[in-house]
Amino acid sequence: MDQKDKKLIAAKASLEFIPDGAILGVGTGSTVNELIDLLPSVRDKIEAVVSSSAATTARLQGLGFEVSMLNSVGDVDVYIDGADEANKHLQLIKGGGGALTREKILAGASRKFVCIIDDSKQVGMLGAFPLPIEVIPMAQSFVARKMVKMRGQPIWRENFVTDNGNHILDIHNLQISNPLEMETRINQIPGVVTVGLFAHRPADVLIVASDTGIRTIGN
Ligand code: A5P
Repeated sequence: MDQKDKKLIAAKASLEFIPDGAILGVGTGSTVNELIDLLPSVRDKIEAVVSSSAATTARLQGLGFEVSMLNSVGDVDVYIDGADEANKHLQLIKGGGGALTREKILAGASRKFVCIIDDSKQVGMLGAFPLPIEVIPMAQSFVARKMVKMRGQPIWRENFVTDNGNHILDIHNLQISNPLEMETRINQIPGVVTVGLFAHRPADVLIVASDTGIRTIGN
């Protein structure tokens, strides 16, 4: 099975977590794009949909979905999104697509966070994938220096501006042995908008697609 097929079966498996009358949060990325293409098949169950990025909004609208603002719907019943890495505690690295801030808001606002990945994203220790940090542009060099002190190697994501008008630093070479502590420490650096470490609010359910099929962890 190639990676695209794995993404598709993971996305398909997540549909069963959408309850009737759902306020549904939709993440960003190639795995979620497979989900979005399946959403018309469960249109009747969806009361409202909120989106984590301009790209996802455009895709949803292209399929005829009206996208609601989070402020007008209250809490999200279920938020479905991909990840760049996941550990056994369902803690994640996200933000490879740069949508980490809105993704973290939706994860935080959701009753259930269902993460869909293929098995290449499962890791023992987070950090082989460069950790994205969204920063206020004027703080970029300052935050980068702080990350060097934490033994990371920051690389500015050139020619990329987030949906919120900010920059991204990708931090290479981190071995994140304590994701909770690392998330807290990075969050405390002035100028950091969001770190793409989802440890304090991990996924509730992790759907992993591999050659042998689907494995669902959590509930
Ligand atoms: C977007 O900012 C990311 O958090 C994505 O959710 C993550 O990068 C997974 O993307 P893919 O499904 O494209 O691998």
